[in-house]
Amino acid sequence: MQEDSSTWLPAQLAAIEDATARLGFDMASARDTGALLRVLAAGKPAGRFLEIGTGTGLATAWLLDGMDSTSLLHTIDTNGDVVAVARCFLGQDPRVRFVIGDAIGWLEVNRHLSFDLIFADAIPGKYERFATAWDRLKSGGIYVIDDMQPQGNWPDGHGERVAGLLSSLKQRSDCTVVELDWSTGLVIAAKSAH
Ligand SMILES: C[S@@+](CC[C@H](N)C(=O)[O-])C[C@H]1O[C@@H](n2cnc3c(N)ncnc32)[C@H](O)[C@@H]1O
Repeated sequence: MQEDSSTWLPAQLAAIEDATARLGFDMASARDTGALLRVLAAGKPAGRFLEIGTGTGLATAWLLDGMDSTSLLHTIDTNGDVVAVARCFLGQDPRVRFVIGDAIGWLEVNRHLSFDLIFADAIPGKYERFATAWDRLKSGGIYVIDDMQPQGNWPDGHGERVAGLLSSLKQRSDCTVVELDWSTGLVIAAKSAH
């Protein structure tokens, strides 16, 4: 990885990382995860993107860095305090829409929207109400989740949840999935027509 190259990182990343640390937000996405998201975003010109769980905007910054000028990203979080950090650094970008609220409720209201890539980085759309997010992925779309490798702060029973989600992804006939021993443990799934 070229983590120390300032030209390699999204322009606002270091400032967002500093603000994230000051806020004490401890659920931030890792740089490696972001770097992969940026590549995937670059592979979807004029793409429509969804991030569930904005946090302070770290993955948002990486996604925006990969997106072309005609792409659009919706990013949703229930916590307005953390989104305020993301807005502060990324809010000038016309390709991003920040939404404060429950992602599942928002998806149910905005049924006309579908996505080329979903980064599901909250419990909803991942361990709960997975199908609500998956259904809104276009055919050929990519679903990305992180934090799938065992971590010391996992609560009791979380390992079973992770295994259950993986198993259900693998059993779907409309899903091609790979587990990556990369960053915090990434799973990437592509949606097919059947
Ligand atoms: C792992 S953090 C997101 C980290 C962020 N993507 C990043 O790149 O650093 C999970 C976020 O999901 C948010 N969240 C929890 N429940 C939610 C819900 N129902 N809808 C949307 N976001 C939710 C939390 O407030 C938290 O900020």
